Amino acid sequence: MKTSRPLKAISSNTVFGEGDVFVLFGELFGRGYATGLIDQAKAAGMTVIGITVGRPDENNKPRALTPEELAEAEANLGGKIINVPLRAGFELDAPEGTATPTDLVNEMTIKDWQDHKLDWDHVEICRDLGSNRFKGALSQVMEQLDTMIPTGKNVFFAHTMAGGIPRAKVFMAIANRIYKGRGARYMPSQSLIESDLGKLILKNFEEVTANSFGYLLEASKTLRDRVEAAGGEVRYTAYGYHGTRILIEDEYRWQTYTNYTQGYAKMALENFAESAWKDGVKATVFNCPEIRTNSSDVFAGIELSLLPLLQAFKKEGGGAWVDALWQKCEGMLKPEASLEEVLQKVSDYQTSEAMQPFYNFEAWPMPNSAEQVDKTVGTSQEIVDMHSERNVLVSDELSQHVVAATGMLMFGEASQPEGPALWLDHDLVAKRLIQEHGA
Ligand SMILES: NC(=O)c1ccc[n+]([C@@H]2O[C@H](COP(=O)([O-])OP(=O)(O)OC[C@H]3O[C@@H](n4cnc5c(N)ncnc54)[C@H](O)[C@@H]3O)[C@@H](O)[C@H]2O)c1
Repeated sequence: MKTSRPLKAISSNTVFGEGDVFVLFGELFGRGYATGLIDQAKAAGMTVIGITVGRPDENNKPRALTPEELAEAEANLGGKIINVPLRAGFELDAPEGTATPTDLVNEMTIKDWQDHKLDWDHVEICRDLGSNRFKGALSQVMEQLDTMIPTGKNVFFAHTMAGGIPRAKVFMAIANRIYKGRGARYMPSQSLIESDLGKLILKNFEEVTANSFGYLLEASKTLRDRVEAAGGEVRYTAYGYHGTRILIEDEYRWQTYTNYTQGYAKMALENFAESAWKDGVKATVFNCPEIRTNSSDVFAGIELSLLPLLQAFKKEGGGAWVDALWQKCEGMLKPEASLEEVLQKVSDYQTSEAMQPFYNFEAWPMPNSAEQVDKTVGTSQEIVDMHSERNVLVSDELSQHVVAATGMLMFGEASQPEGPALWLDHDLVAKRLIQEHGA
C-alpha cells in the first residue's frame, strides 16, 4: 500500500433496523471506541449481543463471568452477553506444569532482556494452545449466537479486540522507557523489535488484534450462509489504526503516532478484511483517529494528533456548535493560556525537523528516534501543564466526539462499504459532527 484510502463521503444506513442483530466482538469497557457504534445500533432499533473476555481464575485461566459480573456487564452493554470466555492471545497458555509466555517474560530483568533468548518451540506450542482454546470457545459462542438470530434478520459484527501486552513487571518498565523515556531514559523501540521479547510480543499482538478477526470471519461462515440464504445481510467492521490525515499548516496530511509497535498486527488485520472482501464478504477495517482511551493511555503524546481537530471543525464550516466547543475547551485551560497557543505548540511540533522523517506512509510503523520521543513527550507534557486540571483535558473532550463521529460514519458506511480498508480522517469526522449538531 502506497497511500491511505480515506473515506470520501458520509453515507447513511440502508440495511439495519428494528430487530436486526448487532454483535460486539470484544468486551465493552468504559470510554472506548465501541460505544459510538453501539449507540448507532441501538438508535436503529437493533438487538445488541456481546461477548466477554472472561476473568482469570485462580490459575490464570479464563473463566466465564459470575452471575453478578454478567449482570453488571450486560447492564453496561445494554444487551445480552454470551458467557463463554473469549480471551485472545497466548501469553497465559502453556502445557500443564510448564512455563507460560508470561512466566518466561518474568524471568527477564531490566538489565538482561535484550540478550535473553526464548525457546521458540515451546512458544509455538503455547501459541497453538492459545489459538485452539480461542477457536474452541468461539465455536461455542457461534452455536449460541445462531439460536439468537431470527430468520430473515440482518447481522452486524463489530470487532474491537486489540491488545496482547503480557502482564509482566519487566515489560511495564520497558514499555515506560520506550513510550515515555526521554534523554538518558530514552530506549529505541527498534531494540524491542529485535529482541526475543519483542518478537514474542509481536506474535501475541497479531493473535489478539488480527487473528481474532480471521477466526471470527471463519467461524461465522455457517451463520453467514444461513442469514444470506434467508435474504438477510451480514457485515463485519473492525477498528484499525494506520495513521490519520489531520490538518497540518491548513492542509490535510497523513501523520502517525510513533512508535506504534502494534502496527504490524493492524496491517495483518487489514489483510484479513482484504482477503474476505475478495471472497465476496463485506468486511471493512476502519482506520480510526488517535484518541485517548484506557488502551491508548500508554502511548504518551498520542493526543497531539487529535488536537488539530479543533481547526478542522472551523475549516469544515464551523458554526454555533463549534464555537461552543472551542469555548468549552478554552475554559479547561489556565487563565494565562489559550487554545491558539496550544495549537501553535502542536504546529511547531509537527513542522519541527525531528518529526519530518515520520511522514512516510510506506515505512510505517517506523521506529522511534531520541529527538522524536523528546519532542512528542515534551510537547504533550507542556500542553497538559497549560490545563487548569490535569484530569480535565481538551483531548478527552475531543476523544468523546471522535468516538461518536466514527460510530456514525462506520454505521452509515457499513451498508454499502467502499472497500476493505478505509481511513476516517479529521475532515470527515469534523463534517459529520457539524452535520449532526447543525452548522
Ligand atoms: N485509541 C485509539 O487511539 C485508537 C485508534 C485507532 C484504532 N483503535 C482501535 O479501536 C479498538 C478499540 O480500542 P479502544 O482504544 O477504544 O480501547 P478499549 O480498551 O475500549 O478496547 C479494547 C478492546 O480489546 C478487547 N481486548 C483486549 N485484550 C483482549 C484479549 N486478550 N482478548 C480479547 N479481547 C481483548 C477489550 O475487551 C476491548 O473490547 C481497538 O481495536 C483499537 O486498536 C484505537
